[in-house]
Amino acid sequence: METRIQQAAEILSRSRLTVALTGAGISVESGIPPFRGPGSFWEEIDPMEFAHVDAFMKDPARVWEVLVSGLKRKLDTAKPNKGHLALAELENRGCLSAVITQNVDSLHQKAGSRDVIEFHGTFATLSCLDCGHQAASADIPLTFLPPHCQCGGVYRPDCVFYGESIPLEALTRSREFASQCDAMLVVGTSAVVHPAAMMPVLAKQNGATIIEVNPTPTPLTATTSDIFLQGGAGSVLSRLTEAVAIPTGP
Ligand code: APR
Repeated sequence: METRIQQAAEILSRSRLTVALTGAGISVESGIPPFRGPGSFWEEIDPMEFAHVDAFMKDPARVWEVLVSGLKRKLDTAKPNKGHLALAELENRGCLSAVITQNVDSLHQKAGSRDVIEFHGTFATLSCLDCGHQAASADIPLTFLPPHCQCGGVYRPDCVFYGESIPLEALTRSREFASQCDAMLVVGTSAVVHPAAMMPVLAKQNGATIIEVNPTPTPLTATTSDIFLQGGAGSVLSRLTEAVAIPTGP
C-alpha cells in the first residue's frame, strides 16, 4: 500500500490539473450512512418511492417525513472529517483544482474547499415550488412538514431527485475538468449512478491517471482505475496528502 501511496503522490505532484470526484463514502466517517451497502439509506428506504421527483410532487409531506427530515438531521450535525480536510489542503497547496461531489452535505465547503461542484445539488438551500423563493435550510424550522414558504407554497430541497437532470453548470464544468485533467482522484463512490460515474471514464479516455480510494473495489477498479488505494478516505487521503510534495513554486 505504501508504494501505491508514493506512486499516487508522485503523479499528483507532477500533475498540471487534478480534480477529485467524491461520493457518500467520504462522508461515512462523519456519521452519514452511504446510500448502498450494509446499513445504508436505500437498505431502509426505497429510492424510487422516496427520492424520485414524481414521488415528491405527488406527496411532498411523505417524502419530507421519510427521507428529507431524517437525512437533513444527520447533515445538520455532521462535521468534515480527515478526508474532506485532506482534499481542502491539496487545493490550498495548488495540487487540486476542484472537487466534483455527488454529496449534498456541504462538508467539502465546511472543510475549506473553495471550488466545489455540487453535481447532485445541495440540502443547504430549499426552494419554493410556487414562487421559487430560495431559503437557507438552516433558517427553515421543520416543525411542520412539508415546510411552507410565506407565499403558501411548499419548499423542496435543492438536491437532484431521481428523474431530474443534473444542473447544467455542474455538468458542463465537470465534463470540462474530466476532459482536461491529468489526474482524477475518485473517492468513496460505488460508481453505479450516471452521469457522475462517467466522469472517471471520460478522464481516462483523455489520458488522465485515475486514482481510486475505497475500502471495497467498484466497477471502476478493474476497468478504469490506474491506482487503487484500498481503505477509508480519512486515513488514505491524509497519508496521500502527507506524501505529496509541497510545490516549491517557480
Ligand atoms: N471511505 C471511502 N469510501 C467508503 C467508506 C470510507 N470510509 N465507507 C464506504 N465507502 C464506499 C463504499 O464502498 C461505496 O463504494 O463509498 C461508496 C458509497 O457508495 P454509495 O452509497 O452508492 O454512494 P454514491 O456512489 O455517492 O451514490 C451515488 O446515488 O443514491 C444516489 O444521489 C445519491 O449521490 C448519490 C448517488
